[in-house]
Amino acid sequence: MKSTSTGNRLTPIRMITSGAAAAFGTALFLSVPHAALAQDVAVPQKAQVCVSCHGASGNSELPNIPNIAQQPKQFLVSALYQFREGNRKNDMMTPVTAGLSNADLNELAAYFSSQKLTPPKGTLTPEQLAVGAELTQKNNCIACHAKDLGGQQHIPRLAGQRQEYVKAQLTAFHNSTRFDMDGVMTSAAQGLTEKDIDALSKYVSGLAPSAQPPSAAPVKPPVSPPAKK
Ligand code: HEC
Ligand code: HEC
Repeated sequence: MKSTSTGNRLTPIRMITSGAAAAFGTALFLSVPHAALAQDVAVPQKAQVCVSCHGASGNSELPNIPNIAQQPKQFLVSALYQFREGNRKNDMMTPVTAGLSNADLNELAAYFSSQKLTPPKGTLTPEQLAVGAELTQKNNCIACHAKDLGGQQHIPRLAGQRQEYVKAQLTAFHNSTRFDMDGVMTSAAQGLTEKDIDALSKYVSGLAPSAQPPSAAPVKPPVSPPAKK
């Protein structure tokens, strides 16, 4: 698979291309990584309860609990909002979000989106890679979840997400039991077989996240959903 990392934006080589750009580029190179570091987003007091389930910095140790580190901020706000409003239901998340204000949602989302996702431990076989890449192209997954499956705006990162969790969610979308803000994900999952869901879950969970946190990656314009059959 070819690398689709967007992490080369800040390399000194690309920045220092001319004399004038060099001064600017060096300044940017020195300042931007600092701005992007988690240190600017202090651990909110309210995040203590989250890490008890989602793991330190949002890297989950539990199969059915998703990693929330390095998710697009907008997706995290949107997910928390849907739990709080009772649209997306879950015995664990519903009570946790009940007392949160909009400002809390933003603060928590800013914190977890700025955390680094631990790359997956296992490696995918060439066959798993080939099957997964074909399925994500054929089913337009990459059109919405971005080419590296790193997510964008309100669309979640899939790369490096826990396999069991992805499988459970895809099955729920397929069965129309997971709430879906605009219905696009429910329709995207309709044509998937159980075998496809297995292969896709294995594939996306085995992909390393791109080098840059999504918040620092260039934001692509929203994509319109593929026409319904
Ligand atoms: C008791 C365990 C528990 C606690 C505490 C908890 N979560 Fe969760 N969280 C879950 C589970 C389980 C899910 C998956 C729900 C599902 O299957 O739909 C989840 C899902 C989420 C999601 C959706 C992620 C996705 O990829 O769709 C977000 C965002 C989230 N939690 C954020 C938080 C935040 C922020 C806190 C702290 C305020 C928190 N959670 C506290 C168990 C917990
Ligand atoms: C038209 C855009 C679109 C397409 C195509 C699409 N998705 Fe999604 N997907 C979304 C959106 C939007 C969400 C968030 C739904 C929500 O929570 O409201 C989502 C959510 C998900 C989730 C839940 C992740 C989480 O962390 O909770 C999984 C898994 C997923 N998509 C996998 C896939 C796969 C695999 C494909 C291809 C078969 C695919 N998607 C195709 C837009 C799309």
